[in-house]
Order: sequence, then C-alpha cells, then structure tokens
Amino acid sequence: MLYMQKGCYSCHGNKAEGVHKYPTLANRAKGFLAYKLKRFRSKHSDNQQQEMMIPFAVGLSDEDIENLTTFLYAFKEENLGKKYDDSFRIHGDGGS
Ligand code: HEC
Repeated sequence: MLYMQKGCYSCHGNKAEGVHKYPTLANRAKGFLAYKLKRFRSKHSDNQQQEMMIPFAVGLSDEDIENLTTFLYAFKEENLGKKYDDSFRIHGDGGS
C-alpha cells in the first residue's frame, strides 16, 4: 500500500487519523487531497509547516496521487474509530 511505502503514516498516523499537527487524511474529500498533494509536488506551500510535505510529494506520480487519494477517501470509518484502542490490541481480531 502506497500510504505505507511512501512513509505517509509516519506523520499522518497508521490509520491516517492525524497526529498532533499532522492533519487527518482519512475520509477526506478526494479532490481536496489531490489538490493539496499536487500543490506540494509543485513546491507550493502556504506556511512553514507545509514545507515538510514537499519532499514527500515530489516523488509522487499522478497515478500515485490517484491511488493515495482513493485509498484515503475510502478509508474505513470503523478503523478510524479504533484509534484509541491501539494499545489494547494484542494481535488478530479474535477470529470469527
Ligand atoms: C514529515 C511529516 C510528513 C510526512 C511523511 C507526510 N506528511 Fe502530509 N502533511 C504534513 C504536514 C506538516 C502537513 C501540513 C499541515 C498544515 O497544513 O498545517 C501535511 C499535509 C498533508 C495534506 C493536506 C491536508 C490538509 O488538510 O491540508 C495531504 C493531502 C498530505 N499531507 C498527504 C500526505 C501523503 C499522501 C503523504 C505520503 C506520500 C504525506 N502526507 C507524508 C506532514 C507530513
């Protein structure tokens, strides 16, 4: 999954839920996310905080952005709700 391969999770969280100053990406409008990524890719940022995104966006192809934003937009809400349970997860979901 690109989101993991490209290291996005290290700032935006394993579940794209956002961490501290890093915005939530899960379930956000695809068009908006793509717009932002393309801006970062062309080295536009509106503030110093956003500069951090540029090195991660420059390597993305249009196809990568399409895949990433589709993934993020469709991110499962049920996964998001679990963010506070992280530390209690042992492994597996307990079977069926
Ligand atoms: C080094 C930390 C870091 C990494 C890694 C990172 N980001 Fe970000 N990202 C940020 C910061 C900081 C912002 C801007 C926050 C702000 O606007 O104040 C941001 C903003 C964004 C935004 C705009 C969201 C918004 O609400 O404006 C998108 C979309 C995004 N990142 C996607 C990604 C994707 C996809 C990846 C992986 C290719 C990635 N980011 C990797 C730190 C990171």
